[in-house]
Formats: sequence, C-alpha cells, structure tokens
Amino acid sequence: MTENYIQVADITDIDLNHSLSVDVDGQAILICNTENGVFAVEDRCTHADIPLCGGQIVGNFITCPLHGAVFDLSDGSVQSPPAFEDLETYEVKIDGTSVSVKKSK
Ligand code: FES
Repeated sequence: MTENYIQVADITDIDLNHSLSVDVDGQAILICNTENGVFAVEDRCTHADIPLCGGQIVGNFITCPLHGAVFDLSDGSVQSPPAFEDLETYEVKIDGTSVSVKKSK
C-alpha cells in the first residue's frame, strides 16, 4: 500500500508558505507547505513551462513568479490567467515530519 509513495522531503526543511522542488524519477514536483496543508504539484507553470518554485503562496494558492498566473494547490486548478491549463497534482502522505508523494505513473 505504501510502495507507490516515495519519501521526498522533511517538512521541517520547508518554511510555512514556501515550497521545495524535488525530483521524482525525472519529474520535478513542487512540495508546498501551506497553512491549509502540504500539497504536491508539478513544478512547471502550464503557461510557459517555467518552474513555479519561488512563487508566492497565500492560503492554498500559488502565484507563478513569471507572469502571475494563480493555481489552487489543493486540486491544481488554474484560477487566474495567463495560464489556462490546470497543474498535475500528486497525493501527499505525511508520516511524522516525513513527506512522501505518490507516483502518478
Ligand atoms: S510562465 Fe507562469 S504565468 Fe507565464
């Protein structure tokens, strides 16, 4: 049951409202520590394929650092242009301070 989850980070290494980009099998995944929980999304803005890492996080929303598209981290849905495609999301499991994500494929 846990074999599809990969340990990627320790939550104590990610300040609140910050994110950490990790590599899982060549896929960049952004681990986001928000006041509404820990979320994992693809670390790639769907607007121009640049990393979302470093984008401002407020609640469970992240703003792309390049052109300001906003995504809901809880479901990956785009909330504000210029992006119009949703982000891929990954299931997160917290075990103590250990953060694991479920491989999608
Ligand atoms: S690259 Fe993210 S909004 Fe343009």
